[in-house]
Amino acid sequence: MDKERKLIIAGNWKMNKTVAEGVALVNGIKREVKDVKEVDMVVCPPFTALSEVSKAILDSNIRLGAQNMSEHNSGAYTGEIAAGMLKEFSARYVILGHSERRQFQKESDELISKKAAAAHAASLKPIVCVGETLAEREGGQMETVLLTQVRGSLAGLTKPQMEETIVAYEPVWAIGTGKTASAQQAQDAHAFIRSLLVKLFDETVARRVRIQYGGSVKPSNTRELMSLPDVDGALVGGASLEDRSFADIIKNSI
Ligand code: 13P
Repeated sequence: MDKERKLIIAGNWKMNKTVAEGVALVNGIKREVKDVKEVDMVVCPPFTALSEVSKAILDSNIRLGAQNMSEHNSGAYTGEIAAGMLKEFSARYVILGHSERRQFQKESDELISKKAAAAHAASLKPIVCVGETLAEREGGQMETVLLTQVRGSLAGLTKPQMEETIVAYEPVWAIGTGKTASAQQAQDAHAFIRSLLVKLFDETVARRVRIQYGGSVKPSNTRELMSLPDVDGALVGGASLEDRSFADIIKNSI
């Protein structure tokens, strides 16, 4: 697929996989995608599996990401993990502001923007998640919600930092539900997010930022979603937990 931006396909394992299961999964993925150069591929295991998964992908084309991090560098923050600690495992990416964290941990846009700044300070590329709920979409609030989240979560980033940031559009109603956004819904939302980036940063930045789609991505809907002009990759949950389906998503995106 000839796209303006290099596609980035990331697997968000969420709270799944023991260390042994994670290593087995990534070894399976590695075998399947060893010749792939056309897309960036990332796996985001839970913290406990980062060390071993990192070793397993050392000499591969797969990169490592984490699912969250603290906005602080160190100190008395029990239970938190700092960006520098993720770097110890050669992580390159970190998912921030996933809707599950916005919902269950009450993460705010302001907090997410601090985390994004801390990630960049440690040379980690943040994958910043935004997306509306079903009630918000049905109430005609989609654009307002996206504007608030994009403006708030990316506040304070410099233009060069923004270019190295990935935005993931994940409509909450499509996550884990089997309901994928239609091609039109996805393209409209992505184009709207890119128009916000033009206003908040500039045309060049907006043209360079990769916007992933997330929400019930599977091998059978990958090709259509990835062919959309403003869709630059996928953030995959459930279908990233099995080597064959994640590899098929990658192959179908090429
Ligand atoms: P599913 O692919 O399971 O719908 O999850 C999407 C997601 O939340 C990825 O971050």
